[in-house]
Amino acid sequence: MVKDEVKVSLSTLLLQPDGKRLKSIIDILKEEDIPVLCTKKSSKSKKLIPFKTLYNNNETFWKQDTTWEYSITEETLNKIKEKYIAANGSWVDELPDVKKKTKKDTKPKPQTGDDNLEELEAHEGYGSEYKTFARMSTSEKVNYLNHNKQRLNELLAVKNKGTEVVTEVLVDTAKDAALINHSVLVDAISLADDEAKKVTQSLVDSTNEMVKSSAQLLTVDVFNNELMNTLVQKSNGTIVQHMTRVYLNGIAFLSYYNNLVSTSSAIQRLRISFQSKYREFYHKLLPHIDKDDLSLERVFYGGMRAIPPDLYFKWAVGFLIHDIGKASNVEYHEGEASYNRNIVIDHVKQGYKSVLNKTNYPMEASLIIGYHHEYYGDVTGYGYFRAYLQQYKKQNPEARQDYCMTYDLEPILDYEALAYFPAKVLEIIDVYDSLTDPHRVYRKSMTPDEALAMMRVEFVEKYTKIDAILFDIFESFIREQQKSKQ
Ligand SMILES: [Fe+2]
Ligand SMILES: [Fe+2]
Repeated sequence: MVKDEVKVSLSTLLLQPDGKRLKSIIDILKEEDIPVLCTKKSSKSKKLIPFKTLYNNNETFWKQDTTWEYSITEETLNKIKEKYIAANGSWVDELPDVKKKTKKDTKPKPQTGDDNLEELEAHEGYGSEYKTFARMSTSEKVNYLNHNKQRLNELLAVKNKGTEVVTEVLVDTAKDAALINHSVLVDAISLADDEAKKVTQSLVDSTNEMVKSSAQLLTVDVFNNELMNTLVQKSNGTIVQHMTRVYLNGIAFLSYYNNLVSTSSAIQRLRISFQSKYREFYHKLLPHIDKDDLSLERVFYGGMRAIPPDLYFKWAVGFLIHDIGKASNVEYHEGEASYNRNIVIDHVKQGYKSVLNKTNYPMEASLIIGYHHEYYGDVTGYGYFRAYLQQYKKQNPEARQDYCMTYDLEPILDYEALAYFPAKVLEIIDVYDSLTDPHRVYRKSMTPDEALAMMRVEFVEKYTKIDAILFDIFESFIREQQKSKQ
């Protein structure tokens, strides 16, 4: 028989933003062999099981279980507090009040007040949550990001994480990071460059760290349809949700790409089929190169290879903030009455310039933003660098773009390669996302199969907009995701 005492939820006690505190509390719970009251959610039947037993069975049992609720008595909580204070000096204030607050309560709440609403409404395309962040100070926003980073790191440390929990945290933290970055940059635009870089430094540091954690988590654990389903379920048609999907899909794709090119047989297969399958496509891009001299080495400057982690993280930041220059009161859908191509083109320039001049984000990230609608020079594409490259050619008439894509910055800036590899990856993911967006505004959203078929015809076969080899790899990446659904 279980006594009727004041109970404290175990998940509320253990869902701490600080990993060290969490470990310390778990150690106390284990060592004291604390009885945990397990209540079956459906029948409300109860039983007492020692914490240690539950923990040994599953180290995060208190986080993931949808069948049981776990709690301890208030008396037990006080004992834990005493032990904790004896070991650590004090029961730290930031620990939520376990009786009243849940994890969700630590999220900022929108306040009503004398904010400039008109100013905030100009950002509505970023979703209603934008207002919440816009009302926070920069340091509050950065604290929020740090808290999210901690959530990701805690998950990284857990052995048997449920896919559901991982995807939930990945999607939420990415969305928050995109919103916070947009909101801090909007404020920083009006500052002088040096001042802006100082103001945004903590944002840059925190975002870089958070991106590393989510890239590690996504690489290790989640490469399946669950993530995509969660992204689709959470989609609400806002710019920030698009950025979130593109960012997570982009990381997953890079991880897939790295696995693929690490196996020599994949590169070998591409080499064997190159002449019959890809030569014509690349000949259109590099007409001045003899057809017989076209090879993978002409497509990938320095040869096709896996992307080292350092570079991978910098690119992931670029994916996260790629549309940061978008204003939400602008029509970005071609064919609609208020569509104005010059204004749309401007989002690339605004994003590139603000990230380059107002932050210390790596050059790789701003270049991805500046290049992400280039389409290999096709007239329907646009980009901040077209004018720069034309200028370069004028001043250096002997300069030649003899390669298609480069993993490194220098060959693109030195007019040696047509495109920047991560920007070509982003283009594909960006187009695919727009076509399959469940909240596509003016047209019915496409199924993955329809989108892939359409992209193959319109972006590879008829025109040379996206890269042919990268597109084939992307298609196999989507097929793998679909397989994991079955
Ligand atoms: Fe864009
Ligand atoms: Fe985009």
